[in-house]
Amino acid sequence: MRTLRDIDELRSTLRAYRQRGQRIALVPTMGNLHAGHLALVTCARQHADIVVASLFVNPMQFGPGEDLDGYPRTFSADQAQLTEAGCDVLFAPAVSTLYPNGLDAQTRVHVPEVGEGLCGGSRPGHFDGVSTVVSMLFNLVQPDIACFGEKDYQQLAVIRKLVRDLHMPIEIIGVPIVRAEDGLALSSRNGYLSSEERATAPALYRTLCVLRDALERGEPIETIIHQGKTALYDAGFTPDYLELRDATLAPVSPTTRHAVLLAAATLGPARLIDNLSVQLPATTATGQ
Ligand code: PAF
Repeated sequence: MRTLRDIDELRSTLRAYRQRGQRIALVPTMGNLHAGHLALVTCARQHADIVVASLFVNPMQFGPGEDLDGYPRTFSADQAQLTEAGCDVLFAPAVSTLYPNGLDAQTRVHVPEVGEGLCGGSRPGHFDGVSTVVSMLFNLVQPDIACFGEKDYQQLAVIRKLVRDLHMPIEIIGVPIVRAEDGLALSSRNGYLSSEERATAPALYRTLCVLRDALERGEPIETIIHQGKTALYDAGFTPDYLELRDATLAPVSPTTRHAVLLAAATLGPARLIDNLSVQLPATTATGQ
């Protein structure tokens, strides 16, 4: 695997692959890799000849007081895991390479509607930061496909819209959530949890499963969401949001059948997110 930090070197390396007619897949990451990221690399391998991973802790997507400074940086271990997973190129630019004039002077990409509410509501500017850096990576790598995890459901929806609205010829592939044996969705932020909090954390997934089952039995959405928030408080979480949306993240309507239950909740120092798909029966009352 080649590790590149420079834009010109990245472009010339990828140009050679492209001229040979090889399909390129991109896996954007912020490092501190776990099995969820490696599933993205495996997916990328299945769809392309050349796999490019990027590793960049993007300051633009962190709000004031968030965990930019403390975000785990494990470069050598990440490099080893990507090599082992069969990645061909790792692009790991410095902040000054992607944002040479600083963040304030940087052109930004804003994806309306789908980025509002949920994580976009609690983390203002977060999805502008994600959309900007992902657009930049798409321009630099010009991949045929790009793989993103379904754990960040709203992020995936934002990126799908970004690509559609800007007519980028890139296929976006969503990769299913990878969970620990106890159900906790893998996340770099799980590392912030104490052993006691780590033992509590799977209650987020278990709660979503209980709520999904109740919703699929046709129980009223409003009641179930209320019960879910109470269950999360009782387990020791501070819920940020718990919402049922349709698969495109629009509000559920009486005709919605394929829905998604999305949650974000704080546990100690970690803000955890998770989601589950829900098949609503025709009888469901849709007030929330
Ligand atoms: O999901 C992430 O790790 C980040 O939001 C991404 C897509 C790499 C952009 O910085």
